[in-house]
Order: sequence, then C-alpha cells, then structure tokens
Amino acid sequence: MNSIVRCPVCQQSLSEQGKAWHCENNHHYDVAKQGYCNLLLANQKGSATPGDDANMLQSRHVFLSAGHYQPVSGAINRLITKHCSTLRQILDLGCGEGYYLSALKQQLNNPDAHYYGTDISKQALKLAARHHKSINWFVAAAKNQPFLDHQLDLILNIFAPADWHEIQRILKPEGHVLLAVAGSNHLQSLRELIYESVNAHQPERFIEKFAAAFELIESTDCQFTLQLADNESIRSLLHMTPYFWQAGEQCRQSIEDLQSFSTPVNVRLYLLKLTNSQSD
Ligand SMILES: C[S@@+](CC[C@H](N)C(=O)[O-])C[C@H]1O[C@@H](n2cnc3c(N)ncnc32)[C@H](O)[C@@H]1O
Ligand SMILES: [Zn+2]
Repeated sequence: MNSIVRCPVCQQSLSEQGKAWHCENNHHYDVAKQGYCNLLLANQKGSATPGDDANMLQSRHVFLSAGHYQPVSGAINRLITKHCSTLRQILDLGCGEGYYLSALKQQLNNPDAHYYGTDISKQALKLAARHHKSINWFVAAAKNQPFLDHQLDLILNIFAPADWHEIQRILKPEGHVLLAVAGSNHLQSLRELIYESVNAHQPERFIEKFAAAFELIESTDCQFTLQLADNESIRSLLHMTPYFWQAGEQCRQSIEDLQSFSTPVNVRLYLLKLTNSQSD
C-alpha cells in the first residue's frame, strides 16, 4: 500500500526507507534519533521555535502520565468506539507529547490501523517519539498537514489549533473529527488564582466554523473535580497551561507552594462527520 504521507515541497507521496522519508522527486527528510521526522518547512515555522516549549511539554507529560486526565481520555475513546467503525488511518493533530493518541491506540488494539501524530513543536515530537514507538510522529503546522487528500478516517484535535479547510482536505468523505475544547468552568479554581475576573469558556464557538461541511454526531461534557494532593502535580498543572505565562512571579510562587489543590475539569467533546469534502 502506498503511504498517505505527503512531501511538503512537491506534494507527492512520501515513503519511509531506513531512517528517512523520501519522494519520487528526491526530497529527503531524515528521521531524528528519537524517532520523529521534521516535515515543517522553514517558511511555515512562523517563529524560531514554534508551539509549546520543552518545559510546558515535560510538565504536561508528568501530569498526564500520572493519570489526572484519564477520564478525558476514557470519554474520548468511548465516543470514538461508539460511533466509528473500520478505522484504518488515524491522526492526532496538535498531538503534544502523544498521550491521547497512544491511549486510543491501546484501546482500539487494531493491528491494521496506522497512527500519525503531528505538532508544530519539535519538542513535542521528541517526547512523543521517545515514549510511544510504532506511531509516526511528524513536525508540521495545522495549516500544512503532510497527508494526501482525503486519506484519514479519524482526526483527533484536542486543545489544539485547527485549520478546518485543511482538515476537510485530508479527511476521507464521511471521515470523523473528535474535537476537545475547554468547557465553561474548566480549571476555574486555577484561573481564579491568576485572574481578577474569570470569564466562562464558550465551547460552542469552536464548531460554528465548520457547521457547513460537518454533521454533529454527538457532543458530551466530561466533568469531574480534579483533586491534587502533591506539590509536583500542582506545579505540573500550572506549567502545562498558558496561564503560567499570565501569572505574575508572586502568584506563580504561591501556586507552586500549594500542597493540595482542587479544581473543576470540564471538557466539551464533539464528534463530527464530514458531509461535504469539497472545499470552497
Ligand atoms: C494545549 S497543547 C495540547 C496538546 C495535546 N493535544 C494534549 O492535549 O495533550 C496545544 C498543542 O498545539 C501545538 N500547536 C500550537 N500551534 C500549532 C500550529 N499552528 N500547528 C500545529 N500545532 C500547533 C502546540 O505545540 C501544543 O503541543
Ligand atoms: Zn517531494
């Protein structure tokens, strides 16, 4: 079977041979020693080190590995197994350090399925590839995904930027998207420690953008109280969120000194099906 991975320069199919991906026009992309491959062209980067940095990613890795968001991963996997059959080509777009994709792979336990994770942060793929082998990890931007047209059965997009035209281009007709976004009071207690006034998140606004091309199959809220009883988990939670950058030095320190902390977690999950694969 031909690979569905696309050369970012000439848009032809890429195949993996040894420790590199290459196309028929002799464009080569080496697989790094950790196991990921960089398909992000210099003119697509936007900044020297785009995406989440090493500290954020390592903190998220510590936090997720401790199982604190296992209910979110479980709810994602349930929604997918309930509605999606014969999944062969699965992508996690904005995959970070790979927690959700590797959990789904384990749950589906399907040796015929191919798994891909993409993220604009090289640091993300370094971590992902080190911890989860047998998944193809690529550095790529949301708006330039390295896949041929209409090849993916399922795309996960979890707390990450999305480009709906690009998703429409790479999904198979009737392919699915699992979108996870912050619900109204997600991490409310953490936000209250950082901001003077806290606005409710508005998860609905995320699906307005793709109403025309997608059908909503099911949406569900995954809600629970996160109770953290150790300092490392509290520190990891703060450092893995963008709130870290908005908290002043004193505020950061007081959160990092906490020995216990609890906050609501509220994640809105949408499962959508592509109904119109022609872009405008
Ligand atoms: C909040 S993290 C979520 C990561 C992962 N999905 C998770 O939930 O653990 C957002 C991710 O999006 C990535 N990202 C940011 N801008 C991006 C872009 N333009 N294209 C692709 N990924 C991007 C970041 O590097 C980061 O890993
Ligand atoms: Zn090429």
